[in-house]
Amino acid sequence: MLEKINALLAETEHFFAKTKDELEEFRIKMLSKKGEISNLFVEFKNVPNELKKEVGQTLNVLKNKAQEKIEHLRIALENDEVQADLDLSLTSYPSNLGTRHPLSHMRNEIIEVFTRLGFVISEGPEIEDDWHVFSALNFPAEHPARDMQDTFFIEKNPDIMLRTHTSSVQVRVMDNQKPPIRTISPGRVFRNEAISARAHCIFHQIEGLYIDKDVSFADLKQTLLYFAKEIFGAETKIRLRPSYFPFTEPSAEMDISCSLCGGKGCNVCKHTGWLEILGCGMVDPNVLESNGIDSKVYTGFAFGMGIERMTMLKYGIKDLRRFFENDVRFLKQF
Ligand code: PHE
Repeated sequence: MLEKINALLAETEHFFAKTKDELEEFRIKMLSKKGEISNLFVEFKNVPNELKKEVGQTLNVLKNKAQEKIEHLRIALENDEVQADLDLSLTSYPSNLGTRHPLSHMRNEIIEVFTRLGFVISEGPEIEDDWHVFSALNFPAEHPARDMQDTFFIEKNPDIMLRTHTSSVQVRVMDNQKPPIRTISPGRVFRNEAISARAHCIFHQIEGLYIDKDVSFADLKQTLLYFAKEIFGAETKIRLRPSYFPFTEPSAEMDISCSLCGGKGCNVCKHTGWLEILGCGMVDPNVLESNGIDSKVYTGFAFGMGIERMTMLKYGIKDLRRFFENDVRFLKQF
């Protein structure tokens, strides 16, 4: 019996299968219920006691070797099959590339215009304290913008909040840099407002700040005119209307001639021929002083605009909520 087992061991060792059928044939011969190994186990009870140990061990070795060999060849044959199916000349699967979000397009375009003028990008945190959002920007204690209506507070006393505008980044830049300062700060801002076609509780702004000796309102106007022409076309006109912001004096709101009707009057500009796009002004001396900049030596201008609004005007989008719905049919158009 031992001879028989050793012969089968040698056969197993040398066995090789070129096809699955050959392998299956071998498996049936060796391991099936009526196969060689099962038969040997049946015969095993006739083996004399003194040989039982040796024969039993060898028989187990044979069984394991046969199982190992079959498994090994099965995997090898399967891999060959996969490789035979692989056509390396085929093009790869069409990968579904995303597109840049329209707000990112607009932000990048705005940044590009200002970097050409020497502005550098700065960023600040979305969670801010009262100093950076309000106090350092000359907001009187009773100013309505501090009201719970507008601001999402995270903690009260001391107040921690989600920033309501990117003007907070101005403060951080003035903290860390000495004039001349020429920076733009894009970022997300948050206001406790009802969501509608025209307003959202989350939106994006870009802030601009320029501080140096002898910066004048004329510099502000020229910078913004250049910007408006670059974004909305060379024929674009701007007008500045007096306005109020605590952190600028004088302050203004800037309109551009309606990019859709060219100023003749249409639904979008409500037949005025003008579209309001940003707030701006000369940095209030109180703000410079609060941030350690000598207001007798330096002057500056600042401006802030909503990226959603700019994108809506540029592409004629009527509902601001589209930007946040992530509907690819909308997003793919940009
Ligand atoms: N922070 C203002 C706003 O959110 C915009 C602004 C920025 C106005 C800078 C003037 C100067 O409405």
